[in-house]
Amino acid sequence: MSDQSQYLKSSKLIATHYGEEYEHYYNAIVPPIFMNSLNVFETVDGYYDFDRQDKHTYCYGRVQNPTVRILEDKMAALEHGAGAMAFASGMAAASTAVLTVCRAGGHVICVRNAYGPLRILLDGYAKDHLGITTTYVDGDRVEEFEEALTENTQLIVLESPSSVVLTLQDIRGVSEAAKKAGAKVYIDNTFCTPIYQQPLDLGADIVMHTASSSAASSSPRTRPSLRSSSPTGSSSAASPGPWRRG
Ligand SMILES: Cc1ncc(COP(=O)(O)O)c(C=O)c1O
Repeated sequence: MSDQSQYLKSSKLIATHYGEEYEHYYNAIVPPIFMNSLNVFETVDGYYDFDRQDKHTYCYGRVQNPTVRILEDKMAALEHGAGAMAFASGMAAASTAVLTVCRAGGHVICVRNAYGPLRILLDGYAKDHLGITTTYVDGDRVEEFEEALTENTQLIVLESPSSVVLTLQDIRGVSEAAKKAGAKVYIDNTFCTPIYQQPLDLGADIVMHTASSSAASSSPRTRPSLRSSSPTGSSSAASPGPWRRG
């Protein structure tokens, strides 16, 4: 069994080797792509008794897949998170994060320059269907967030650097203010990638990437997106299931 901990020593080793357990893929140097949806159990009891946390036992592809698992393990390790979940798109990950943390009637603080479709989700579906209200701030100063906090604030949405115009927020300062108010901090870390910035270390609760951009070196294809964060959550966010800092 390969000693995976040796790969946690650097981002380079995580990206190239971490999570890839060759002995489970006939020692293939590149992990194969598993395209099956279902896995076989020898007995019905084996199915009912299997450990759902065991990354070497799989049941159904939507829930766990060995190839996707490698990506999730790498991203969680790069972000210093407790876990990660991969999605079919960045907006799937972002929507899951918002809908996991926020309750009907809740309040969100979001930076004005956040990715447009996320603002559309907040101003449209979240408001119309769940009564979630959003206050937008420029995000240059921590005080703006503090002033916008209400008793009902459940989530602060950051994007630093932000889409297109690359504005910055004080992740540590905003996270401290959020913690005092009992709100969670979500950040889109797409532009920096975890190679340059690890928001969980600065106090954020959930980190999201769209892998169609920087993490996969911008390409015309849409690639699985994910967000890593802390786990106690469970699919309650994780990538959507809960994820909190480890
Ligand atoms: C910063 C940022 N966040 C989120 C998204 C959404 O990602 P996706 O297109 O994979 O849904 C994008 C897409 O361009 C983006 O640039």
